[in-house]
Amino acid sequence: TESRHASRARFFVAELSQALFDFVIQLLPTAEEMAVKEDVRKLLERLIRTIEPDSRLLSFGSTANGFSLRNSDMDLCCLIDSEERLSSSDMVTMLGDLLERETKFHVKPLAHARIPIVKLSLDPSPGLPLGIACDIGFENRLALENTRLLMCYAMIDPTRVRTLVLFLKVWSKRRKINSPYSGTLSSYGYVLLVIYFLVHVKNPPVLPNLQQMPPMRPISQDDTHVGGYNTWFFDDIELLRQRWQSSNTESVAELCVFNLIDFFRYYSRDFSYNTGVASIRAGLLKKESKGWQNDLSSSKYNDARERNRFCIEDPFETDFNVSRCVTKEGLYLIRGEFMRASRVLAMRPRALTALAQLCEE
Ligand code: CTP
Ligand code: MG
Repeated sequence: TESRHASRARFFVAELSQALFDFVIQLLPTAEEMAVKEDVRKLLERLIRTIEPDSRLLSFGSTANGFSLRNSDMDLCCLIDSEERLSSSDMVTMLGDLLERETKFHVKPLAHARIPIVKLSLDPSPGLPLGIACDIGFENRLALENTRLLMCYAMIDPTRVRTLVLFLKVWSKRRKINSPYSGTLSSYGYVLLVIYFLVHVKNPPVLPNLQQMPPMRPISQDDTHVGGYNTWFFDDIELLRQRWQSSNTESVAELCVFNLIDFFRYYSRDFSYNTGVASIRAGLLKKESKGWQNDLSSSKYNDARERNRFCIEDPFETDFNVSRCVTKEGLYLIRGEFMRASRVLAMRPRALTALAQLCEE
């Protein structure tokens, strides 16, 4: 009967949302891991200051945006506050030498990469059973700002947003579709897909659009532009928590489960991969309007088209396609995984079976 059907649906939602929370909680980094990472950051900052006394070493990426999983790598960015500073590639070379001499890290300086970085790693030890991996870059102020934007989105609704994002990060890693180097999508790309979905697809929206809210006070160009890009967004989260009441009335449990189901359905069926651009700043855009179309008539050696197979606009660097590394095969894999996940959930299995099946390696 109808009511039996309804109560089974309720049971499915309650059970799956509980299982999702439990699943995600055991994947969070421990307080100890966070403390060790902070110690490493401080140590590295002290060493860098022997080369550039006016430098600061800041954390970005998952260690700073609230979407960190156990044992995720550390992204660090060095800012130098003086006028005359060494070039990034000179910094990489000097810092590489210094760290090699002074520390136990394995050091790999990439001075001539498109974005010069020093790669570091530490072998596992009793206090750090999984070791540590860390990249140090220079002057990447946009990455610091987009980290702050993601962190603010995470803080508006910590339970629901983080549960969904963390689950998808694990899922995409286990299903092997989280690797820009082999043609699939970075974690950063998946987080943007989730925010895009919660701001622009869910109706009523679960999150506000922080880049389009009216500012509380007049803002000056200087404060809000980094490298020519507008990086302003509404960042008074305390105020926002008081003011923003999503008119979405689904319960926390319902939201977690429906968000997950709807997310997979939207990206397996409804998102227009051929013509659309997902923009958390402006909603669904057309590839044409950004000059990002898949021009299928162009020569097969023109890799512009390969770069724009899948389009996700960076929130600040709006001429940058975050998913430009996704290849034809990569997109096929990603969409196949969205469909597979949709199918698994549509069968309404018991919660633990569902999670195990979804994340099967
Ligand atoms: N980033 C960026 N542009 C990209 C990719 C990454 O600006 N195309 C910056 C973002 O600031 C992002 C950070 O690099 O937060 C780290 O990216 P990534 O490693 O993909 O995300 P994490 O959240 O650190 O995920 P993981 O835990 O998998 O490392
Ligand atoms: Mg990272």
